[in-house]
Amino acid sequence: MKSGRGTAHGKIILMGEHAVVYQKPSIALPFFDAGVTTTVKQSAYLDLSCDFYQGLVTEMPELLNSVKAAIQTSLQELGHEDATLHIDIESTIPIERGMGSSAAVAVATTRALFDYYQQPLSQEQLLAIVNIAETIAHGNPSGLDALMTSSNQAYRYVKGQPFTPIQSNLEATLVIADTGKTGQTKEAVSAVKELMLQSQYQAKIQQLGQLTIEAEQCLITNSAPKLGQLMTEAQQLLTDLTVSSPELNQLTEVALKTGAYGAKLTGGGRGGCMIALCSDEQAESVNQSLQQAGAVQTWMLPMKGI
Ligand code: PMV
Repeated sequence: MKSGRGTAHGKIILMGEHAVVYQKPSIALPFFDAGVTTTVKQSAYLDLSCDFYQGLVTEMPELLNSVKAAIQTSLQELGHEDATLHIDIESTIPIERGMGSSAAVAVATTRALFDYYQQPLSQEQLLAIVNIAETIAHGNPSGLDALMTSSNQAYRYVKGQPFTPIQSNLEATLVIADTGKTGQTKEAVSAVKELMLQSQYQAKIQQLGQLTIEAEQCLITNSAPKLGQLMTEAQQLLTDLTVSSPELNQLTEVALKTGAYGAKLTGGGRGGCMIALCSDEQAESVNQSLQQAGAVQTWMLPMKGI
């Protein structure tokens, strides 16, 4: 039987969340340990199954607006608006944790639909479709998630400018921990917008931008202890900007006490995941401490060559 298949992976913002909204640089990494696979087969209806929903595409809940828009936009571009297909989505990316879950699902599903119809899909076309989907679902996405969940290398990103690939020479391991609480990106972004009316907070965004520029140098020159320091400074600034949470603060403190070079939240904040930069030797004990401190899931990401 004819079928189509598409995949995508998660992403991690190393530095620059929130500051990127104000034209400061950010650095993001692809995260291959969490991913999405979509398969498409012929069916009597246009329907979908995933962990959160089984039923018609037209009746999908709001949580799935991005993938719904990706399906509709892809089918329009393919000239098959009336298609009756079964779309099956399997994802190991936790949702609303700052790992790019919704963009990754849209990427994998768009790829699967084009694969089903055996049509070529350029990276530009894929990003255009996923950005339409993410705009419908989330308002004003920076485009970072669509890029990172569909490409295989680290990027520096400044809003409105082309993405620049980064080659990391860093010999260190990033430990990632999920607080188990959903992140609140939208609320956090509007809270920062409010604070940005005051010069003291504008200065903090400015500082975050500066830290990201220094962080990029650390990746190139293999300066892990210095990068860790910059991350911990960023965490303080993000806390001042009210986008951390008690759980994120607790996990970053535990990581530092266990010998991490530095730690911070990743993504929109107010929940979601944190990251801790560790020497390769120290990573396992930081990982265990984070689990004991209540992280619901952890991952270890070697940074060399990313
Ligand atoms: O929570 P995430 O992974 O969608 O990351 C949000 C990053 C922000 O800088 C807070 C917002 C943005 O649009 O870049």
